[in-house]
Amino acid sequence: MIQQNILKAKTFINQSVARVRDVSFSRTFIDSIREIPQIDKKMTQAKTPAWVLFAREALRTPRTIGTGWASSVQLARAIANFVPLTESGLVVELGGGTGVVTETLLKQGIAPERLVSIEQSANLADCLRRRCPQARIIKGDALHLCNLLGDDSRRVSTIVSGLPFRSLPHAIGHGIIKQIDEALPDHGLFIQFTYDLSGRPMFLPPHFKRISHKTIWANLPPARVDVYQSTP
Ligand SMILES: C[S@@+](CC[C@H](N)C(=O)[O-])C[C@H]1O[C@@H](n2cnc3c(N)ncnc32)[C@H](O)[C@@H]1O
Repeated sequence: MIQQNILKAKTFINQSVARVRDVSFSRTFIDSIREIPQIDKKMTQAKTPAWVLFAREALRTPRTIGTGWASSVQLARAIANFVPLTESGLVVELGGGTGVVTETLLKQGIAPERLVSIEQSANLADCLRRRCPQARIIKGDALHLCNLLGDDSRRVSTIVSGLPFRSLPHAIGHGIIKQIDEALPDHGLFIQFTYDLSGRPMFLPPHFKRISHKTIWANLPPARVDVYQSTP
């Protein structure tokens, strides 16, 4: 897996540099990366590999993506294993990205009608729709979670988040947490992964108790999945 990821990174950088060279020798690398959507006009999004889409979005908006790589299947499985299968409430995913966690949730047995994935990047939301056509994908900002869900905001039982809270601006992170708190009922679960293995707790209102966690060493970089429960 590590070697595969390194190979993907090298290929991506090589392809990007080659494109930059073709367009203009005088532009800076970053400026040229921003131009890639124009260069790619002829290449349909559907043909662009998911990891390229993800890396491109990461270069365009690093603070909202938070990492250069999508989660590994091992991390996605660890997240999905914490989601109760037997409940009827909605499972809402925040920051679905290219859909590795979304797809794993479905494979692990979450019924498609229970799953809603919210992703703010239009390109990644399209990628999610192609990868998981049976799930409900909403292109939108988690800062407006309850509005985006409408009446369904009263049916949420679990929220799974891939949002990079540590790199998002504080005001946005706090605003999203308020929305999560509003949408989750008592005993509802909030599942979040982090690359910060120091054990520092995430900022959450005090009635959120961490009830479980698991470190996934096989992910690059290693990540910890934390499970919080909203207590009455
Ligand atoms: C670290 S990536 C995780 C992607 C995927 N869940 C995974 O595990 O590979 C974070 C994702 O959150 C999305 N995101 C960031 N801020 C967001 C927001 N305010 N609302 C919805 N999605 C957001 C980004 O576009 C990105 O796809």
